[in-house]
Amino acid sequence: MNRVIIFDTTLRDGEQAAGGMLNVQEKLGIARQLECLGVDVIEAGFPASSKGDFEAVRHIALEVRRSSVCALAHANPKAIDTAWEAIGEAEHPRIHVFLSASDVHLAHQLRKSREEVLGQARDMVARARKYVGDVEFSPMDASRTEPAYLYTILEAVIEAGATTVNIPDTVGYAIPQEFGGLIRGILDNVPNIGRATISVHCHNDLGLAVANSLEAVRQGARQVECTINGIGERAGNASMEEIVMAIKTRHDLFDLSTGIDSTQIYKTSRMVSDLTGFMVQPNKAIVGSNAFRHQSGIHQDGVLKKAITYEIMDPRDVGIPASSLVLGKLSGRHAFKERLAELGFALAEEDLNRAFLAFKDLADKKKEVTDRDIETLVAEEMRTSSETYHLDHVGVSCGDHGMPTATVRLIGPGGQVSADAALGTGPVDAVYKAINRIIGVPNRLTEFSVSSVTAGIDAIGEVLIRIESDGVTYTGRGAATDIIVASARAYMNALNRLLAAKKRNSVDAG
Ligand code: KIV
Ligand code: ZN
Repeated sequence: MNRVIIFDTTLRDGEQAAGGMLNVQEKLGIARQLECLGVDVIEAGFPASSKGDFEAVRHIALEVRRSSVCALAHANPKAIDTAWEAIGEAEHPRIHVFLSASDVHLAHQLRKSREEVLGQARDMVARARKYVGDVEFSPMDASRTEPAYLYTILEAVIEAGATTVNIPDTVGYAIPQEFGGLIRGILDNVPNIGRATISVHCHNDLGLAVANSLEAVRQGARQVECTINGIGERAGNASMEEIVMAIKTRHDLFDLSTGIDSTQIYKTSRMVSDLTGFMVQPNKAIVGSNAFRHQSGIHQDGVLKKAITYEIMDPRDVGIPASSLVLGKLSGRHAFKERLAELGFALAEEDLNRAFLAFKDLADKKKEVTDRDIETLVAEEMRTSSETYHLDHVGVSCGDHGMPTATVRLIGPGGQVSADAALGTGPVDAVYKAINRIIGVPNRLTEFSVSSVTAGIDAIGEVLIRIESDGVTYTGRGAATDIIVASARAYMNALNRLLAAKKRNSVDAG
């Protein structure tokens, strides 16, 4: 088999990262894009973990038709039943059961013997198999599990019906040669391994997630679990764009392929970054803003003569858009819709109408509207489509001798309009205080940064903030040509996420 199955866990392990919380609409938007990208399996979430996750997984299962939709489940009957309830109507459903396998987890976390865990794994895979033919099993912390015991568990779960066995390097401890050896050992020592696909799931604590995954593939693994931009628990997961482009660029070495349409990579990366609030570092391989930029004179000279001198990949292959001027203030709704489609956005009619109004507004302020501006604008629209409170107006008065003052007007649940004003140490502080006077949920600002989406004095400013409430971090993003407005939108975005999480928690508790 020369095809590597790409299993994307951006919506599950990726979303688990501190501050990366997404709402149902945002998850659906990402799932649609993952399907366009050609992902084989979308791990949509962990239905038993919360009502919100359950709903998101259910919506994704109802909508996604080409990719398999996978739900994660603890190895217990209720979690497996709930997972099935959420994905039962998917075109290609998969249940992913996991259970710790290493002695360190058994002794200190599960407090169970190896025999008990073996029996539980076997029984729970059999239970999942009663619902669906596509069942994956993960012995958590596999890279720190004694190999002989790991082989025994794998044999037992395959016997019970697992069609994929996933080998997680849960704590990012493995080194490529060693991890590749583990995969080889599984192929050589698990008698029925021919009846299942070997998958790998590597974390990046030592910066080796991609290297470990690639070595595993070289040794015979045929599914890689990964996330867009490498987001995930702690230091993250193996980055999908790096895995896919390594397999494609070094076809000479791997002689393998994936089903990914690589020209969709850049767009997916931007979307995930915009919606999760996790910025992509400029030097990030494949999707960083510097990834295809040549600074040194010698390199520039070489690339101008022949790109292959210093470029191992064509930026167009990952869908990096040429920085073109696309639309202006005379462009109509039809042209805007076409451009959105070319950029890969399929918006519902109502969202399209709102995005078009925002585009017209932007085109009035900004001479040149680029693809990046349009992507930012669509992300802003997606952020505001499921708000509890909407920012209807923000105004500030400030200056070197004045007292920074802000007025805000918000539209809350049931269309209720509330307005207030506050003084602050600066204009942003004043705006945030005025908003807090209306919403009244205690929180603390822990991070604030501003960047510009494109170059030029009329560029859109993008604000990223993180706030903390009851020990949980919430990310917010906002964009506008006015950075005070962008700051206010970012704060509203974070507060809306906080309010949604509190609502979900109270429903879960009740
Ligand atoms: O890292 C891990 O072990 C996981 C499992 C649930 C597969 O995310
Ligand atoms: Zn993980």
